[in-house]
Amino acid sequence: MASSLPPSVPPTHPAVAMIEGPRKPLGIIDQPTVPPKPSEALIHVTWTSSTPLDLHRADGGLLINKYPFLMGGSFAGTVLAVGSNSDPNDSNSTPQNKQAHVQVGDVVFGMTMDGVEAESTFQPYITVPLWRVSKLPPNLTPQEAVSVPTNLVTAMHTATHDLGLAMPWPVPDGWQPPAAFRTAPILVWGAASSVGLYLVQVLKHWGYAHVLAVASGRHHATLKGLGAKECFDYREGEDVVVGKIKRYLDGVAGTPKVPFIVDCIGSRDGTLRPLTQIAESGAKVAVMLPVINVHAAEDRAPEYEMDISKVLVGHWKEGVELIGTRTHFYAENKFFKDHLQPEIVPALLEQGVVKPNPLKIVEGKTLLERAEAALSLLRNQAPSGEKLVWRVAEEEA
Ligand SMILES: NC(=O)c1ccc[n+]([C@@H]2O[C@H](COP(=O)([O-])OP(=O)(O)OC[C@H]3O[C@@H](n4cnc5c(N)ncnc54)[C@H](OP(=O)(O)O)[C@@H]3O)[C@@H](O)[C@H]2O)c1
Repeated sequence: MASSLPPSVPPTHPAVAMIEGPRKPLGIIDQPTVPPKPSEALIHVTWTSSTPLDLHRADGGLLINKYPFLMGGSFAGTVLAVGSNSDPNDSNSTPQNKQAHVQVGDVVFGMTMDGVEAESTFQPYITVPLWRVSKLPPNLTPQEAVSVPTNLVTAMHTATHDLGLAMPWPVPDGWQPPAAFRTAPILVWGAASSVGLYLVQVLKHWGYAHVLAVASGRHHATLKGLGAKECFDYREGEDVVVGKIKRYLDGVAGTPKVPFIVDCIGSRDGTLRPLTQIAESGAKVAVMLPVINVHAAEDRAPEYEMDISKVLVGHWKEGVELIGTRTHFYAENKFFKDHLQPEIVPALLEQGVVKPNPLKIVEGKTLLERAEAALSLLRNQAPSGEKLVWRVAEEEA
């Protein structure tokens, strides 16, 4: 077990945190750098990416019960130390990390849990379990890689856990889903979101051939290139887009017409309300939580709902199955815990199955400035088909 830090690593370092509570300026606190235990790695974080969850935390205090709350759930950086894996009784060990799949000096990336002090990624040193670490494939930069894991893990978790679709790994030669699934419509509302873009790509890879994508018209060519069979533009207005989807479905056999729906946005009025008009009895509707009842703004606190059964009660057709997606629990699936980040995510990227989203690099003179600038872009709903990426450590390892 590595009980001490490498000599070049400082014993403490700055970390971005919510200090007082929601809708207050973020601050910097001094955090201890934690030596890695067995099956953990100490990583020097050079890049992170921001997700709407950061805004839900910062402005809504979502699911936070103690302050200061350390922020950030994705990293790219360099391995500085790996804890000894000699302990066969370590419950956190996996077949991969008994023999660690990464070594000192490797460039790595991954999704972690914000709020967990050693794992939160808006700090230059983190200590994380190896099952949260992917090795950088040779065809990607760290900036591209850091934009991927949170939402690719979400896409895989949603498709398998929430919709119950088979996605065997490794993909057997010639594998196809059963015919009924291969041709069944899967509606991805918010397909140009980070989650949506990856969902469209993995569904195509595993042979689900009837993906219907709802996004701004300017993303339609991209989405068709990634695997969507048909696209619809939500910016034409609720009545128009719902009407066009229903007319399309008139030509589709089966009951329900769309057995699988993913709401990649979770906006009560922007996405769920139109979906109440489309989802028929028997459909599974997976919704990215939280449901946003009121979006955050400079002068307005957001309002969220984590219980999907309380949203638009009485508007859904009987027999529609509503599922609130909670990706932070993906590791309850032992196979995914062992394989998703150590193996599947980097393989999908290296094979070109999944392309990272376009990036927007967020600038700022300091760690804190960059964190605040990214939050402000999220608050203003500026990202469109792109991922916010920014520098954490000022220097390379
Ligand atoms: N619970 C979970 O496990 C989980 C996991 C991941 C994400 N989430 C949540 O899911 C939401 C989206 O996350 P993200 O990272 O994918 O967001 P994102 O990439 O920042 O989403 C931006 C996109 O949302 C699209 N959009 C906004 N309103 C829309 C509407 N009414 N209909 C269709 N598309 C719309 C825009 O599409 P256009 O460019 O086409 O206009 C834009 O490209 C967030 O609230 C996040 O917290 C939850």
